[in-house]
Amino acid sequence: MKTIVIYNSQTGFTKRYAEWIAEAAGADRLALAEAKKKNLAEYDAIVFGGWACAGGISKLGWFKSNIDKWGDKKLIVFCVGASPIDSPEIEPALKRNFKESEFKRVSAFYCPGGLSYEKMSAPSKFMMKMFVKTLQAKKDKTEAEQEMVKMIATSYDISDKKYIEPILECLKS
Ligand SMILES: Cc1cc2nc3c(=O)[nH]c(=O)nc-3n(C[C@H](O)[C@H](O)[C@H](O)COP(=O)(O)O)c2cc1C
Repeated sequence: MKTIVIYNSQTGFTKRYAEWIAEAAGADRLALAEAKKKNLAEYDAIVFGGWACAGGISKLGWFKSNIDKWGDKKLIVFCVGASPIDSPEIEPALKRNFKESEFKRVSAFYCPGGLSYEKMSAPSKFMMKMFVKTLQAKKDKTEAEQEMVKMIATSYDISDKKYIEPILECLKS
């Protein structure tokens, strides 16, 4: 199955997952800006990865606007975020990014990345700092929120190659 992995990454985590997937699946790999210039007709499967941004998946709009055009190709989306894999928010958040018909057509996965304040753009850093401050100031934080406040105050990396396994399985099936 001729496969391409297309990714949109700000600080490198989604790019890293795209590299792992492409290497393991023997697939081509392109950053979104390059992929937009390419004719994707030759591919049987398109894997798109975007980073999680306030519950959304960055540049998913581009992917979704092409779904109809891509006919019977296998379509996979993976989202890379700062939340750990066992966060209860993940499944509902993934689903919210698609219409029901789109969600049936696309296989969606989540891969934990991390946070890199060093590589973040100034607006992203500002938004994250605001989010941290708001959460710090919140009274009666749940246990999960208390954990999150500690976690997101500084950079961390929870990415792991093992999280690509379900995506590889899906490509094989
Ligand atoms: C403005 C902003 C909003 C974010 N929102 C979320 C979010 O809703 N859920 C999440 O898990 N991570 C969120 N993150 C964290 C990023 O998705 C995470 O750092 C990801 O690993 C970045 O991927 P990249 O290195 O490919 O850019 C957010 C980061 C920024 C800067």
